Amino acid sequence: MSKNVLILPGDGIGPEIVAQAVRVLDHVNDAFSLNLTHESALVGGSAYDETGSPLPQETLDKAKAADAILLGAVGGPKWDGLDMSVRPEKGLLGLRSNLELFANYRPAILYPQLAEASSLKPEIVAGLDILIVRELTGGIYFGQPRGIRTLENGERQGYNTYVYSESEIRRIAHSAFEAARQRGKRVCSIDKSNVLEVTVLWKEIMEEVAKEYPDVELSHMLVDNAAMQLVKAPKQFDVMVTGNMFGDILSDAAAMLTGSIGMLPSASLNAKGQGMYEPCHGSAPDIAGQGVANPLATILSVAMMLRYSLNEKPAADAIEAAVSNVLDQGLRTGDIASEGCTTVGTQAMGDAVLAALSA
Ligand code: IPM
Ligand code: MG
Repeated sequence: MSKNVLILPGDGIGPEIVAQAVRVLDHVNDAFSLNLTHESALVGGSAYDETGSPLPQETLDKAKAADAILLGAVGGPKWDGLDMSVRPEKGLLGLRSNLELFANYRPAILYPQLAEASSLKPEIVAGLDILIVRELTGGIYFGQPRGIRTLENGERQGYNTYVYSESEIRRIAHSAFEAARQRGKRVCSIDKSNVLEVTVLWKEIMEEVAKEYPDVELSHMLVDNAAMQLVKAPKQFDVMVTGNMFGDILSDAAAMLTGSIGMLPSASLNAKGQGMYEPCHGSAPDIAGQGVANPLATILSVAMMLRYSLNEKPAADAIEAAVSNVLDQGLRTGDIASEGCTTVGTQAMGDAVLAALSA
């Protein structure tokens, strides 16, 4: 039976980078006889423009039925003035919560070829291989009540609620420990337990779950210190597990250690193993439509999708090897450009990955 992939290009550079990733998907589909089909749908600002909703029902239905989802990016200044309930980001958050994609894996791996592109000294980042496991469907992003209210004195007050229930913490803890088992066997849980009760509970549940994984070492770190340690001595980390908002912030910092956020894929999985795959970067409206965006994070997201949701490891390996190969050839998009290398655009980078796959 064929498996179906839903393609959600989204906004900004989304359509450009996804187009290259789809070429790669089509190529491995033929080369490895994967029997995959794919169709596209609207999400984000482009969906709002067409339908009045950043997550049309049709898109949500297709997403629920898909074996895996590939998303580009959402958002842009064009939609900044919209009410919060219909902003492009709500499309993304709605997919995450409706599909219960609670476990977000954000690897930060330094390609040796790109050591020069990191803002940190090569010796600090050489060999870097961190996995951030971010809880994606709870915490302050989704807690109720939330809003902006007017107080009795007439002053307005904005408020959000930071909540985590035991079961939500427990399932993301299992995701992190399972992932650690497949790699360095160390989990560092990030909290703010010196101030926030919700993370006191977080820490307690992490300890409890850790007992089921005696082969994995658990440590704890406060989020402010973790931000500092990430730029001071990032190689101390193996798996970092944290809540939705801390994970959002720390994963951007971790991404930049690797030279460019334009290189990093991510996977968001639910309990059934169904997943949405997307680059860690956003819609980059400043360069949208220019054909210069780096498609590699999206192409690597296809590899993650083949590995984690579609169970097609050889095809995933082939894509990752092809990406490494084009970097070896000295091809770089603007975000990772360096002296002595050839700067190419989005399409040419896609061409190069396809050529490496055919070689
Ligand atoms: C991310 C993004 C999203 C988030 C935005 C676009 C809603 O920053 O995936 O990290 O905050 O989760
Ligand atoms: Mg983010």
